[in-house]
Formats: sequence, structure tokens, C-alpha cells
Amino acid sequence: MIGVFDSGIGGLTVLKALLEDVPGVPMVYLGDTARTPYGSKSPDTIKDYSLQNASFLVEKGARVLVIACNTASSHASRILAEQFHLPVFEVISPGAERALEVSRKMRIGVIGTRATVESGIYERKIKAINKQARVFSAACPLLVPLIEEGWIEKPETNRIVKNYLRPLKIRQIDTLVLGCTHYPVLQKTIQRKIGKRVKIVDSARAVAARVKTFIERNPGLRQLPDQAGTCERCTIYITDQASQFQKTARLIMKVKLQIRQADIRTGSACCRR
Ligand code: DGL
Repeated sequence: MIGVFDSGIGGLTVLKALLEDVPGVPMVYLGDTARTPYGSKSPDTIKDYSLQNASFLVEKGARVLVIACNTASSHASRILAEQFHLPVFEVISPGAERALEVSRKMRIGVIGTRATVESGIYERKIKAINKQARVFSAACPLLVPLIEEGWIEKPETNRIVKNYLRPLKIRQIDTLVLGCTHYPVLQKTIQRKIGKRVKIVDSARAVAARVKTFIERNPGLRQLPDQAGTCERCTIYITDQASQFQKTARLIMKVKLQIRQADIRTGSACCRR
């Protein structure tokens, strides 16, 4: 079983790609909606929450972990790999590599939460591969709450996106990394505001490709006959409040989900539909 977690709804963009691209493996998702956003928390808090999330998923049977959150990937991927001795996939490296593949001018913009941007991890990963690349980052702390609320097409959201992207537009980036798994929900707005010539990189497909290769090499992890990208082989837990999550989740997954309530401090779970 593959265990996937995020601070909330954003990781569903990764889960969707995993369900579509990695056949035959059951998945369990945890959205830590009680404590979202992670992007404004300290590195130590992000590590603690990530450890608790991973423990919950491992208790549910996960044998592979996917950190479907850039903020947790920035600060907790090493500690998770050390503590759990399981394959741990993060979303930063696939995004950084993809950006270098598609960029022509090597002028790469990155948008993410404050914790991700302040960690400098995208700059480090991109420059470790190509020293010539120029990386321009912008923290967009208001976008996660707007997306969790489902404010996708609101004029207020458009204005906020435009403001956040202005400094990157001035730098004439040719590629923009969505360094937060929530942001693909706003991809159309982001593309409109940054301009159609800028290529947008979303790491969901790139991380799904890595997980797919890993599963192909470890076929013992495959427990189900191949199925199309449905949610039937996936259980979704959240730590608080199902109603708004259900609405926004439907926008992302395009199907109605059965969502369960998880108490990650006690490890118990009950069903809320
Ligand atoms: N989806 C998370 C990320 O990729 C959201 C962060 C947050 O909770 O602030 O960083």
C-alpha cells in the first residue's frame, strides 16, 4: 500500500496522478486539515507533524510513503526516511528536474509556501544540476487558505495571484514551478497571469513516474488487478472538517469521495461521510 500525505487538500493533485499512473496498488491518503497550513509553521513543527502523519499511514499498512507536500518535503523527507526505513518519495526533486528539462533560458521561477521558499531547497536542487540556472522564488502564503476554501474563480484570488507573480514576471522567467501541491488547482489563473509563454511545471506527474518505476521493480507491492484512475482502491482520511474538503476535493478528483475522520494523535479513525 502507498501512503500519501499533505497538510490538506493539495496532495490530492499528487494522489490523482498516482491513481492514474500507478496501477494495482492500494493507496491511503491523509490530509492534515486540522493543522493546515504548514507553510507558516517552523521547521521543527513541520517535522513533528510529518512524523505523526507518516506513523498514521504506516499503521494503516503503508509500505511506501509519498510526501505530497512541498513544505513537508523541504523539511522532513530526510527524517522520515531515517525513522521509517521505507521508500520515501518527495515532490521537490522531480519538480526541479522537470523545470530544467523544459526551460530554454534557464530563468526559472518557483512559487511556494513561506516555509518552502525560505528553505531555499529548489534553488539548491536546481543549481546542483545546472550552475548556470537562475532561480527566482516568491512565497505565496495566501494561496493555500484560498484553495482550501474553494475560492478558485474569485476576482480576489485573481488579484492576489497577479500580485504574487509580478516580481517573477519582471525577471522574465520562462518556466514556473508550482512549488506547492495546492497550486495546480489554480493553474489556469496562474497561467493567465504569468503569460502563456511561460511553461508551468507541476511535480505530480513527475513524482508519479518515479513511484511507477519503483513499483515495477518491486511487483510484490502490487496487490490489486489493474484499475483505471478511480478512488475505489484509495481510502482518504482527514483530521478535521469534512464539508469544505469534500467540495474542493471533488473539483480535483472529479468524483465524490468517501472521507474518513482520523485522530492522528491517538491513531484512531472513524468514518464521516
Ligand atoms: N500542499 C502543501 C505544499 O505543497 C501546502 C502547504 C501548507 O499547508 O501551507 O507545500
